[in-house]
Amino acid sequence: MSAYLKIDHVGKTFSRGASETEVLADITLAVDKGEYVSIIGHSGCGKSTLLNIVAGLTPATTGGVLLEDREVNSPGPDRAVVFQNHSLLPWLTVYDNVRLAVDKVFSGSKSRAERHDWTMHNLDLVQMGHARDKRPAEVSGGMKQRVGIARALAMEPKVLLLDEPFGALDALTRAHLQDSVMVLHQKLQNTVMMITHDVDEAVLLSDRIVMMTNGPAAKIGEVLDVALARPRKRLELAANPTYLKCRQRVLEFLYERHRFVEAA
Ligand SMILES: Nc1ncnc2c1ncn2[C@@H]1O[C@H](COP(=O)(O)OP(=O)(O)O)[C@@H](O)[C@H]1O
Ligand SMILES: [Mg+2]
Repeated sequence: MSAYLKIDHVGKTFSRGASETEVLADITLAVDKGEYVSIIGHSGCGKSTLLNIVAGLTPATTGGVLLEDREVNSPGPDRAVVFQNHSLLPWLTVYDNVRLAVDKVFSGSKSRAERHDWTMHNLDLVQMGHARDKRPAEVSGGMKQRVGIARALAMEPKVLLLDEPFGALDALTRAHLQDSVMVLHQKLQNTVMMITHDVDEAVLLSDRIVMMTNGPAAKIGEVLDVALARPRKRLELAANPTYLKCRQRVLEFLYERHRFVEAA
């Protein structure tokens, strides 16, 4: 059966001199169009490696990634990435950071005026239109992540790849940004693959949670459907039995069956 995004028997081995480490072993996952899938697992299990393979930034050792039945093995605007540490260009304004991506993707298909409007539209989507002329150093960490999300969305990617996008933020900013991402997903229906190690974040945002076993040679241990209606409200969910059951399941997986072993 063909899926929108298919990770097909992906394995990854890093070699350093004579030593080889198998980080990922035989990862297969199909993601539907419009689906929000989270990948959760302990630090170092290979989550970022998997995301980078889908992004085309790291080559798979075995297997491959298909997007709409086409193999992807190099980076492209159809797969936009938002990293934990906002990767904005510090010498450009908020506007120009987004505009740069818009110009790259749409210079052939949108006029200058349209590219301007599209840049502003995406900044407004993440409530950053007011800060268009500021430089990254002049805005908060949460705002930088918003701009990173605007830049990614502005590319109209087929898949949005988020690598712990809220990981470096304080709890309140994090909650606020999670809510924004939920609203955006509801509105735009984009396909999202998000890496996280936060159980509540995974349950709140996802349609499905993919739980990875500890490395080396990490695999998909379990996949959980999060059968919670959208739009979701964080406060109401706190007492929702389905929410609590999902949360419990992920916690059990991570902290009993695949307890984190601190590397020596
Ligand atoms: N370029 C690389 N070369 C060698 N080893 C790497 C490289 N990138 C990641 N690794 C190793 O792969 C494992 C998984 O890393 P990573 O995917 O970053 O984990 P996670 O994102 O789950 O914390 C780690 O043991 C890490 O040291
Ligand atoms: Mg990582």
